Amino acid sequence: MLKLEGIDVYYDSIQALRNLSLEVREGEIYALLGANGAGKTTTLKAISGLLIPRKGRIYFQNEDITFLPIEERVKRGISQVPEGRRVFGKLTVEENLLLGGWTKEREIKKNLEIIFSLFPVLKQRLRQLAGTLSGGEQQMLSIARALMSEPRLLLLDEPSLGLAPLLVRDIFHYIREINEERGVTILVVEQNAHMALQIAHRGGLLQQGELILEGSADELKNMELVKSAYLGG
Ligand SMILES: Nc1ncnc2c1ncn2[C@@H]1O[C@H](COP(=O)(O)OP(=O)(O)OP(=O)(O)O)[C@@H](O)[C@H]1O
Ligand SMILES: [Mg+2]
Repeated sequence: MLKLEGIDVYYDSIQALRNLSLEVREGEIYALLGANGAGKTTTLKAISGLLIPRKGRIYFQNEDITFLPIEERVKRGISQVPEGRRVFGKLTVEENLLLGGWTKEREIKKNLEIIFSLFPVLKQRLRQLAGTLSGGEQQMLSIARALMSEPRLLLLDEPSLGLAPLLVRDIFHYIREINEERGVTILVVEQNAHMALQIAHRGGLLQQGELILEGSADELKNMELVKSAYLGG
């Protein structure tokens, strides 16, 4: 479904991704792991169009999207949930959701119903300012807002960051549900390898902008490098 072919991404003269190739298959959850500064967010930004690679190509559903503007990628079904759950704090929950639905204006009612069935708590809080939601609720809203564009590929940047362990479990449960019940392909970036590998089908490990390991979730769980660095073993 998504293919990165040898991409290099720079911030001015600093190279953040080095000849990165990876493939996300339709219907799967792919976990991209790596330490701080490894290039995880940069990878997602290249896919969503916030950054353009200096070398290499990005294909989505067999079409070259390397240079497409962000809005065009959203229309084709790529939606990103940014790091740090950036909801619009001064807007209500409902307004946040409506903003996410701009590419699918005629489907808003249907999509709101889908979201309320996934996240019932958001329905109770429609008129509440997003900035007053708890951290976990804000993360749910951030994911829900991205779902309003009916993505085929959802990019999640560290959905568990800063959440209490119980909430982390909830969020990963929702991610799996979105994948299984809504049929959305998911690329999730995580430092919490333990949780990510529990729900992922496959994954890869980024180190200093390079993909140094790739495999099924079970294979990754057993690799020494992943175990020692990320699974506390
Ligand atoms: N706007 C920027 N300008 C310059 N360098 C940047 C910028 N954003 C990121 N970088 C650098 O690019 C590299 C990759 O950063 P990136 O944000 O992709 O890492 P990450 O894996 O998402 O890390 P984290 O887990 O901390 O979020 C880092 O060395 C970082 O310092
Ligand atoms: Mg990051």
